Amino acid sequence: MTFVKSETRFPSKAHSIYLAHCGISPLYAPAAKRASELLTEQSLHGGGHFMDFYTPELDGFKEQMALLLQTSADNIAAVRNTSEALSMVANGYPFQPGDEIITFTHEYPADYYPWVIQELKGVSLKLIPNRPARSDIDPGLVGWFSMDDLEALITPRTRIIALSHVQFTSGFAADLQAIGALCRERGIDFIVDAAQSLGSMPVYPEEWNISALASAGWKWLLGPIGVGVFYTSPAFPRQAGPGAGRRRNHDPGIRLPRPPVDATHHGQAV
Ligand SMILES: Cc1ncc(COP(=O)(O)O)c(C=O)c1O
Repeated sequence: MTFVKSETRFPSKAHSIYLAHCGISPLYAPAAKRASELLTEQSLHGGGHFMDFYTPELDGFKEQMALLLQTSADNIAAVRNTSEALSMVANGYPFQPGDEIITFTHEYPADYYPWVIQELKGVSLKLIPNRPARSDIDPGLVGWFSMDDLEALITPRTRIIALSHVQFTSGFAADLQAIGALCRERGIDFIVDAAQSLGSMPVYPEEWNISALASAGWKWLLGPIGVGVFYTSPAFPRQAGPGAGRRRNHDPGIRLPRPPVDATHHGQAV
């Protein structure tokens, strides 16, 4: 394998060869330049021309993400981060008391707390047990899980299986295609955190029967902090309720009642 030093695109290459880590990656220089142009525009004109600049960027973002995820731009929304998208799914999902969610024992906090909060509504959270990577290391350390362990937790009350594609500590990659097929068979919504994989591994949510998928933009996607991507399958937002999935930014996902007064004009005659 040959590493090409492109200092124009990746200024970090001037002092190091960057391979990867599971934190914040060096920002792709053209992205840094564009972000700074947008901020300059806002500092000069406020909201004046801002939308003329911003709207095509947002559309371009959705088109690029749709290409990467092999889906349509209508299924993509821009979010601030993975946690925001997964919290929207958890808070909007129409859980009934007694419903069940399955996740992995050692999940990243963004994939754990949104579901824990649902326990207050009488939902039960079931954790797939950890299998140590090797018999000679501490069994408390993050390893992996088997399909058998996952399947053993499924009951007729299972509504959601929520998992990271790649675990943030062990690097274990779940077989999304197989789990998606299992979810299709059992009528379960499959929710995926792709923060540790998107940009480095193929992720095809539509083909793999994933209902909702979120990722940070600043790991393998080499984007800025504060930008994340949120995919929802065409059927998911309407089935899952307000906020659970937005087909577009500013679209709550379902038809909401109109506000009692037209707040747009602050009560003034138009
Ligand atoms: C599995 C996983 N999900 C999500 C994130 C980032 O979460 P957020 O985008 O909410 O900051 C990380 C960051 O380390 C992660 O490892």
